[in-house]
Amino acid sequence: METIKDKDFVRLIDKQKINERIQELGEQISKTYKDKDPIILGILNGSFMFLSDILKTLQFSCQVSFLKLQSYQKMSSTEKVRQVLGLQEDIKGRHVIIVEDIVDTGNTMDWLLTHLKKHKPADIAIATLLFKPKALIKDISIDYCGFEIKNDFVVGYGLDYNGYGRNLPEIYVLKSE
Ligand code: IMP
Repeated sequence: METIKDKDFVRLIDKQKINERIQELGEQISKTYKDKDPIILGILNGSFMFLSDILKTLQFSCQVSFLKLQSYQKMSSTEKVRQVLGLQEDIKGRHVIIVEDIVDTGNTMDWLLTHLKKHKPADIAIATLLFKPKALIKDISIDYCGFEIKNDFVVGYGLDYNGYGRNLPEIYVLKSE
């Protein structure tokens, strides 16, 4: 068990499972993108660990950049997405792969897709480590998903509870009372 601030969390996905799944996703992505010179967009803050690990499995030439978005407050998603750090690269005509930690309601991803499409990329794929299908309220299709999870709050491996817990190497879920 892990205690983060005022909450207790129990382990949901261990390091070995995370590594194995990332390896599989990396192989899949490598097959599709081997001659496409894509640009990989990591969404900060939550994706930094997933991005770092999946990048090492990719066997093709690519560029990497970051966007910083904010929509979550404490333990719930808000409709309003804020762009804190914007796109620096020209993505016109490029193949874009978004790397996200988790898709929950899909609000962030929906906002991001609308925003990126204005820059006329060749196409956009979504890679997310975690996905909560029961929380999804937007019409989004995910191309590469690590794990589908229940509609529970998770932390670790980049994901936070109120800014804490990102450094945990495995994924933890809020302990039920
Ligand atoms: P969405 O806009 O509701 O899909 O939420 C996306 C963002 O909310 C993610 O990028 C995370 O930063 C955050 N988020 C969603 N669910 C969780 C969770 O269970 N734990 C921690 N952060 C989460």
